[in-house]
Amino acid sequence: MSQNQALRDRVRSIPDYPKPGIVFRDITTLLQDPAGFRETVDRLVTPFGTHEVDKVVGVEARGFIIGGAVAHQLHAGFVPARKMGKLPWETVSAEYELEYGTDAIQMHTDCIDKGERVLLVDDLIATGGSAGAALDLVEQVGGAVVGCSFVIDLPDLGGSTRLRERGYQVSALME
Ligand code: ADE
Repeated sequence: MSQNQALRDRVRSIPDYPKPGIVFRDITTLLQDPAGFRETVDRLVTPFGTHEVDKVVGVEARGFIIGGAVAHQLHAGFVPARKMGKLPWETVSAEYELEYGTDAIQMHTDCIDKGERVLLVDDLIATGGSAGAALDLVEQVGGAVVGCSFVIDLPDLGGSTRLRERGYQVSALME
């Protein structure tokens, strides 16, 4: 069995959650497995050399788990992109579309220095709304995006294509 298949087998698929017709891809079963979590992080950092990334941005909430481990391994800093109202200092905000309505995320204005090389990390890319908003914020504060890494891509939802159309390098460990 390929290593990639072994990771894929550790993602739990839950039909009709959180509503009928959605197959929820649950990564808690991957994260709770010591070898699975290590392999996931090792694979996410493989394309990047140590000191090629200054900051890793992780999107709340599952992006914090993956992004923190990736930042540690790359000797980079970690920056949280949080839901509205959670960050205590001056923030920048970006809205994104949900199926019904909009949501927004925030980052601290001083989280990235001008020209710092930034890797965006999340567990899953679906429509790419939250990732796209996080990338807007990274550029607003002066960061240079070197790539976007996800554990899972749901390509039918178009998020990875949208980010590539915006010129970003996008990679995922599985579809
Ligand atoms: N976020 C959006 N779609 C999802 C899915 N199918 N599983 C887990 N998280 C998601």
